[in-house]
Amino acid sequence: MAIQKTDRIWHNGKFIKWEDANIHVMSHVVHYGSSVFEGIRCYETKSGPAIFRASEHMQRLLDSSKIYRMEIDYSREQLVQAMVDLVSTNGVWPGYVRPIVFRGYGEAGVNPIHCPIEVYIVNFPWGKYLSKGGDEGVDVCVSSWTRIAPNTLPAMAKSGANYMNSQLIKMEAIANGYVEGIALDANGLISEGSGENLFLVHKGKLLTAPIANSVLPGITRDSTIQIARDLKIEVVEPGASNTKGAMQVSGEVIPGGQFIFAGALYSPGAGPMQPVNLSKKNSISFWTKGDGNTYTLLVLTASRNGQNGEAPAMTSFTAAPEWKQYTFPFSTFETDGSDLSGIGFLRAQEAGKFQFEIDELEIK
Ligand SMILES: Cc1ncc(COP(=O)(O)O)c(C=O)c1O
Repeated sequence: MAIQKTDRIWHNGKFIKWEDANIHVMSHVVHYGSSVFEGIRCYETKSGPAIFRASEHMQRLLDSSKIYRMEIDYSREQLVQAMVDLVSTNGVWPGYVRPIVFRGYGEAGVNPIHCPIEVYIVNFPWGKYLSKGGDEGVDVCVSSWTRIAPNTLPAMAKSGANYMNSQLIKMEAIANGYVEGIALDANGLISEGSGENLFLVHKGKLLTAPIANSVLPGITRDSTIQIARDLKIEVVEPGASNTKGAMQVSGEVIPGGQFIFAGALYSPGAGPMQPVNLSKKNSISFWTKGDGNTYTLLVLTASRNGQNGEAPAMTSFTAAPEWKQYTFPFSTFETDGSDLSGIGFLRAQEAGKFQFEIDELEIK
């Protein structure tokens, strides 16, 4: 969506015209990515415009600046006030507020220290970021790009340079027909999307990647965790290996259903499973715990998907009351080597009388 201009922009303590907010091509930021910024929603409420957690956002801006040794002449309170004044001067809400601090025109080399610090705040209308405006979901994929490692560029800072990594993730996702890409961190653990933190609902708990997995400490993430805790929902920030497993089995246990879930291997939510070429895989494994009944595992492939007359490949297992890991070689299923299109767990007992959970499902 093209940027919709507004009347005024706040620059180093003064309001200037939108058209006058220009920088020189030799500004340090243009060449070396030396900026830190914020993205803040301003909502319309019954009592007027409300900037979402204005203080926390400006604190993060100051923190990002500190990491990059950018000295800002304004306090958090002054920056919050500037933001409030700007929204009210422009009269633009609901919308977006974009404070940005960068190294301006000074010297040409990498050393940024002698380049002046410029502080701008812009406010303009901007709708929903990922969806078309409603509450519909979007298709996401796991990116082939890795999120920046903590000892390269700190994800703790919301710096412009970090978004070169985000751009690679985003462009690849769009080129492949998705709306957004999810990056793994340098250790192969779930990190975040190119422009948002991630949450999974799994076994009644709320999972999110820990800050250590190269995620931006999102203000929305913080609010979500707080609201979940207030609602007595357990929040887990898995440190080790099981985020990916949980994501792979992003469906939840649905007591009484016939099919517990089908697919979503690399796509959280109910999106279609990305095809997995079985000729390069040997087995499927998962952990399960349940009511002691026997269940059926279905493996759906492109040609054995239950739709063309061929039944999906199946095998059975018992969901014992203690967590137990099962590994089934694909030879068990007599799959025909065509692409895997879904995994299903079928009840073998009477409706409403089963209960079991699956965790860390992996296709190896
Ligand atoms: C990479 C990335 N992670 C997470 C977030 C979410 O941050 P917040 O909730 O503070 O807006 C953003 C927002 O722009 C982002 O760009």
